[in-house]
Amino acid sequence: MLSTLLSAFWIMVPAYVPNPVAALCGGGTPIDFDRNHSDGRRLLGDGKTYRGLACGVLAGITVGALQIWLAGTRGWTFLPQHTAASIVILSLGALLGDMGKSFVKRRLGKKRGEAWPIADQYDLVIGAFILMLIFDPSWLLANITFPVLVIILILTPILHRVVNIIGYLYGVKKEPW
Ligand code: CTP
Ligand code: MG
Repeated sequence: MLSTLLSAFWIMVPAYVPNPVAALCGGGTPIDFDRNHSDGRRLLGDGKTYRGLACGVLAGITVGALQIWLAGTRGWTFLPQHTAASIVILSLGALLGDMGKSFVKRRLGKKRGEAWPIADQYDLVIGAFILMLIFDPSWLLANITFPVLVIILILTPILHRVVNIIGYLYGVKKEPW
């Protein structure tokens, strides 16, 4: 149980890092270049910026590289093995999932920052796993076992909440979700 929890966390770190880092360093040119969809609403909105995307993905990859280095030098073979591909896919997938969610939010008429329960918590997991399924399905099958998946589905909303409350208290996030 504890080792499954540790494995789930270790796997997800490169996917968990990008969102809070994007919130810290985001701003500037929006990814949709201010463009509207045919429904007259923004494609993604001002909450999705190139700077946020770039810093977030770079931070996820950096922390993932640190994990690979740590596990290698300490001989932590009990942990799931990250690879160059896995850390890039998880970091990028997390923020692509976040962008996909914003796209759907705008189509539903939800404003930037408006809460959308469940989607807000799982966008990163869905984005990361879809990208992994496309580019490295063998890594996904080898590492995301059923118990690990269950733990990820329980752990993610809890961490999401905790991190967002911290971000809100420090004034980084406008809303505590
Ligand atoms: N952010 C960014 N670029 C990204 C993702 C996030 O700049 N690709 C920054 C934005 O400043 C954003 C903040 O991180 O406001 C929080 O991210 P998130 O909660 O995902 O965005 P929201 O502002 O809530 O927008 P949305 O309603 O589209 O989810
Ligand atoms: Mg939000």
